[in-house]
Amino acid sequence: MKHKLVPISNIRNFDNKTMELRSKQFYEDIKQRRTVRDFAEKSVSKSIINNCILSAGTAPSGANMQPWHFAISGRSDIRKTIRENAEKEEKEFYERKASREWLKALEPLGTNYSKPFLETAPYLICIFVKNYGLLTDGSRVKHYYATESVGIATGILITALHNAGLATLTHTPSPMKFLNKIFKRPDNERPFLLLVTGFADKGAKIPDIEKFPLEKISTTI
Ligand SMILES: Cc1cc2nc3c(=O)[nH]c(=O)nc-3n(C[C@H](O)[C@H](O)[C@H](O)COP(=O)(O)O)c2cc1C
Repeated sequence: MKHKLVPISNIRNFDNKTMELRSKQFYEDIKQRRTVRDFAEKSVSKSIINNCILSAGTAPSGANMQPWHFAISGRSDIRKTIRENAEKEEKEFYERKASREWLKALEPLGTNYSKPFLETAPYLICIFVKNYGLLTDGSRVKHYYATESVGIATGILITALHNAGLATLTHTPSPMKFLNKIFKRPDNERPFLLLVTGFADKGAKIPDIEKFPLEKISTTI
């Protein structure tokens, strides 16, 4: 395919003061994002979820392959099935599979195999990585940096949901293959993670944890 270049429609040109302010304001807002594990049984308009998915779909990706699929369900029967499957895997994880070291790392979060939020939150979004693409004749299209690309898209999705006023929980029942069957996704797709989204319950509590300071997370040379 021949490439076609078009002019950038919107070159940003903020002055320095505006940029200082915007970068600070964004930080002040995004630092309020926290993983929530107690959700209210309050509905969310599907159009809000769709706008956030569209935002995620703007993510950069290796060779613009856009190797993601966002499978969404707000159906109570599907959420119930996902909860049953996830709790089965998680029980196995907490009671048998997890190393002592892993369980110790999870201790401050107070998590266990019980996942009621999978039924109380109004929407579950399962993000799938397309390991390779499939053409209509069944031949495969190679995807480059698929995992990195989907990680970036998921970050944008979490940020977009937070920006819209929604809470999220990044959930990774292990293994997650059962999600292909529930969401009817093909074999070239692998569940990346399950994003639980909705409103935090009134009495929701979160672990008292801190984020590393700038000096610890960055160096400048
Ligand atoms: C890849 C990934 C997997 C995670 N899996 C789970 C999970 O299965 N269950 C859970 O309760 N939290 C899970 N979390 C949430 C983390 O525990 C949480 O992000 C971390 O403790 C920091 O808290 P914060 O998100 O409130 O800043 C996961 C987060 C990430 C990024």
